[in-house]
Amino acid sequence: MRDALLWASRNETLKTHVPRWGFVQRALRQFMPGERLEDALQAATMLAGNGVTSMFTKLGENLTDVAQADAVVEHYLGAFERIAALGLDTEISVKPTQLGLDLNLEHAARGLETLAAKADEMGNWLWIDMESSEYVQPTIDLYKRVKASHHPVGICLQSYLHRTPQDIKDLIPLQPGIRLVKGAYKEPASVAITKRAENDEAFFRQAAELLSTDGVRLALATHDLTLLDRLEVVARVAGRAKDSYEIQMLFGIRMEDQYRYAAKGYAMRDLTAYGEQWYPWYVRRLAERPANLAFVARNVFARN
Ligand code: FDA
Repeated sequence: MRDALLWASRNETLKTHVPRWGFVQRALRQFMPGERLEDALQAATMLAGNGVTSMFTKLGENLTDVAQADAVVEHYLGAFERIAALGLDTEISVKPTQLGLDLNLEHAARGLETLAAKADEMGNWLWIDMESSEYVQPTIDLYKRVKASHHPVGICLQSYLHRTPQDIKDLIPLQPGIRLVKGAYKEPASVAITKRAENDEAFFRQAAELLSTDGVRLALATHDLTLLDRLEVVARVAGRAKDSYEIQMLFGIRMEDQYRYAAKGYAMRDLTAYGEQWYPWYVRRLAERPANLAFVARNVFARN
């Protein structure tokens, strides 16, 4: 099922037709407050009322020309302003391909630098998402370049990649921001761990090492409560305060747990996606948990 959904997320015909189906749009509302920045801002205000901070990402991948990348940069510059005007603790997370990584590396680097400088100016923070494995090295290279300017920037690392333990070692001296995730793409066994249980253990080991390391802004981005419980013990043994690292989850997933973590004094941040190009992102969410298909199916019968 996971493989079929990951295939569907890349299929051009499905990409064109599925987003028009009303029941899919209704099911989508579980994971996305809306397509506009203002919808995400409203959600962030609601989350803040529950003690949960947020992080925005505008959906859209693999651009066809650099003008589209410039539009993305402009959009996020405006978003930083709106966030500051509303006094929200909302950070921004970007995909390097949205900044034109596929088209022109230097252009993407300039876009990233512009956004990182803006984050700095606004007292905010910029995160860099990690995409499929062919982008990992250029993304880490870009991260190192922006980090050299001392801007507040973090990078996502995927525990399933065989290379990640070494990437963690290489990045630690830079005092990085690291968001650790299990990894959302279909990767071959030569590149990544393909067994779920083995990846859970890899995540545990990498997170435990990071929890025992000073100078890293650490975010554990997972909905896996068993893992988070085990890591809570590691954090306690390492003498870390509950709010000295972050737990990050996606909007619409385990919301009650997100509020519970915040109420218990953990630094809980919610990643809220918005934008018109939601199809591949949404189908990857389904691939993570095919049981969500039942949710889509239920919405076939929903009224509006
Ligand atoms: P796992 O998939 O094992 O799920 C644990 C439990 O959580 C499940 O049993 C289920 O109960 C619940 N759950 C998980 N996913 C669910 C869903 N979609 N719907 C309902 N329940 C669900 N990946 C990447 O490659 N690059 C990136 O930049 C990012 N960025 C990122 C940021 C943030 C804040 C998060 C939370 C995640 C990402 N990811 C990501 C996605 C990540 O790699 C991973 O695919 C998902 O988080 C799902 O894995 P879990 O760690 O939640 O565990």
